[in-house]
Formats: sequence, structure tokens, C-alpha cells
Amino acid sequence: MMKKQLTKKLKKQLTKKLKNSPKFTIERQDNSTIQLLDVAYDHLDFVLKNPEYFKTKDHFSTVQYSNVTLLSQLDDVCKKIYNSLAHMRRDSTYLNIGTGPGILEFYANEFKAANIDSVEWDQQERNFSVIRKALNVEPTYLCNDVRDNNFEIYNCNKKYDYVLLIRFFPINAENATVSQLKDRLSKFKKYANKAIIIDNIDVAFNKELYDVLASLEIGNLIETNPRFQNASMILDLNKI
Ligand SMILES: C[S@@+](CC[C@H](N)C(=O)[O-])C[C@H]1O[C@@H](n2cnc3c(N)ncnc32)[C@H](O)[C@@H]1O
Repeated sequence: MMKKQLTKKLKKQLTKKLKNSPKFTIERQDNSTIQLLDVAYDHLDFVLKNPEYFKTKDHFSTVQYSNVTLLSQLDDVCKKIYNSLAHMRRDSTYLNIGTGPGILEFYANEFKAANIDSVEWDQQERNFSVIRKALNVEPTYLCNDVRDNNFEIYNCNKKYDYVLLIRFFPINAENATVSQLKDRLSKFKKYANKAIIIDNIDVAFNKELYDVLASLEIGNLIETNPRFQNASMILDLNKI
């Protein structure tokens, strides 16, 4: 068989295998599935057709969602976060800062056991639009840049119990000093008294930043994900 034909055949087989892998599907409540490989390809196609949306340092990281393995790992994490939140007090309210692809919101919309609203940065909202469309998720609110003095979540007049900061990189060691971390966290006080940080905490925060977080810590979520090396910290924002 010609090399080209063989490559084509292998690609077809591999795609079929990946598509049939439960790891690469998201399941709706009615047992129908969303193929993460299709979602990743569609996002990649969007990136290639709109390179100008992705080319600055702040926005380049959103190219990562073309990686089906990352989407699958994130799906695992979001499922676990959703299940943890569903086991907290039923009337608790959550505001997810940085919806990104919207996987957590997908579970909240499908299974309805946790009250989660969401916020996306107005400068980055379009970069996630293809994935959110596949999951039928729209952010509840848009916001401006959390690094700005006039940070605001537009039209958000409600106070939530918790803000969720999941892999929210403006507060990590690569992007924040101790005073910037405190400043950015205190901007969320208007919207919630407590914050839940979920990240690869050992890697994302250096000792100085971790000490600040530890001084605010009042607990953690029941589930963590060793494969994605995630951990959680629940913080009292009023202690800042
Ligand atoms: C790495 S993504 C995480 C998205 C999702 N939580 C996840 O775990 O995949 C970071 C999120 O924070 C938001 N974000 C990043 N920088 C921001 C900034 N300077 N101001 C406001 N939001 C920002 C992005 O729009 C994005 O939704």
C-alpha cells in the first residue's frame, strides 16, 4: 500500500478509536454525547482562521483548548468540582470567574444541583465562543481586565456566597506579586465573601503567594484530582 494511503487509513482508524473512547466524550443527562475531538478540531479551525484573536501573550494561552487531552482532563476536573459543589449546601451560590470553555457551567446546566453563574473577560470572550457553543453555554456576565483599577463585572448587582477561581492565571506567580494578588482578590469582595481557588497550587503559587493564601484559608473542597494535580483552597476574602 502507498505510504500516503497508509497514513490516511491510520488517521481514520485513530480518529475512530479516539471518538469511541469514553475519555474523549462528554455525556449529557439524556446519555447523548459530545465528542471532544470534534470540539477540539473546531476550536483549532477557529484559531487558524482568526490568528489575530490569539496572537498577544494574554490571549495565546487560549490556543491550548485545541488539545483534546487537555479538554478531557479539564472535563474530569470540572466533573469533580461540580460533584463537590453539588454536595455543599444546596442553597449556596457560586460565581465562576473566567468561564473559559464553559465545561463546569455545562454540568451545572445539565444536572442542576449547584447554582453556578459565570463571568468572562470581555477581551477574551470570543476566543472561547466555538467551544461554548458546542456545550450550549453563555457567560452570565462580562467583565473588564481584573488588573485595571476600575475592574467591574458588568450588570452584576447580586452578591454570591463564593467566587470560583479555577486556573485563574492573573493571580498566579507568573502574573502577580503579593500586593497584586491581594489587590486582585479584594476586587471580588463586592461579589462574594469567600473564594474557592482550584489550581495546581504547588506549581501556580510561589511561597510568598502561598503564604498569603494560607493566611486567608478556611477550608477546601472534598475532591481533588491527582491526574491534573489540582488542589483547592477556600478563602475568607474579608480577611484581606
Ligand atoms: C486559563 S483560563 C481558565 C478557564 C477555565 N476556568 C479553565 O480552567 O479552563 C483563564 C480565565 O481567566 C480569564 N482571565 C484571564 N486574564 C484575565 C484578566 N486579566 N482579567 C479578567 N479575566 C481574565 C480568561 O478570560 C479565562 O476565562
